[in-house]
Amino acid sequence: MDGMPESNACHTGLHSVFGQVVFNRLLPGGHGLLRLFVGELAGKVGPGQFVHLTCDDSLTLPRPFSLMDANPHQGTVDLFYRIVGRGTELMAAWKEGIQVKLLMPLGHPFVWPDLHTHFLLLAGGAGLAPIHFLARRLVRTGVNMTLLWGIETESPLETIVKQDDQSLALAELDGLGIVSRLASLTPRAGRFQGYVTDLAVEILASLDEERRSNTLLYACGPHPMLVAVHRLATRFGLKGQVSLEERMACGFGGCAACVAPIRTQDGAWSYQKICTDGPVFSLSDVVWEQYGA
Ligand code: FES
Repeated sequence: MDGMPESNACHTGLHSVFGQVVFNRLLPGGHGLLRLFVGELAGKVGPGQFVHLTCDDSLTLPRPFSLMDANPHQGTVDLFYRIVGRGTELMAAWKEGIQVKLLMPLGHPFVWPDLHTHFLLLAGGAGLAPIHFLARRLVRTGVNMTLLWGIETESPLETIVKQDDQSLALAELDGLGIVSRLASLTPRAGRFQGYVTDLAVEILASLDEERRSNTLLYACGPHPMLVAVHRLATRFGLKGQVSLEERMACGFGGCAACVAPIRTQDGAWSYQKICTDGPVFSLSDVVWEQYGA
């Protein structure tokens, strides 16, 4: 497959395209991994950005999915999803070769400094997608990073047991030299028992002062987890970015269904649209009190 799929470019830089299903793997724990051929658009996306996918013409609204990876050479993007409703149930039945409708790329990606800083990446559930993509991009820069994933089900992704402490790590990331750990509230072999942010506390507390103060936090997951990340950042005096997950309707700023409270320069705050102003925001710009912090 090469070249561009059929596309209607919008003035905003968005493209309404048909992507071709390369594979659609059902994974343990009610998850799926979908690879779509989207041609040269795969080279125009970054971690944190998302697509709006029409799961079926019978459904009124498309669904937002964060990108888990993009391969500009093969013209493909990967989406990691959890089967939670009618749209994702229909999606789980998609077979190789079918054409599906999507709008992309949406939102702003994560940004990171060129300096060789230490990165602590935190993901909760399907929030792994943008964090996984970020890790794959960061590793090219040679930075030190650790990825922590809170997942309550059986791991949908292949894991390996690390010989040093018998903890589980994500096999694919380990092969790239990226350190990863899993956390669950329920006891499971090889996983930290507790919240992913508890594991982050343990890791941060074990670092020397210089490394700890040079750590940046990047996170995506449910709101309570992100509030805990905010507390973590406050406790250790750290900065970072979060990708906010929210229900969406239009996906391109037209309906205000996806707002988040964000600080403004005058010290006040206003609601901004996650789909166009985000989904990535600076940790310190989000008004966490509005989320119960
Ligand atoms: Fe419509 Fe964000 S989903 S403005």
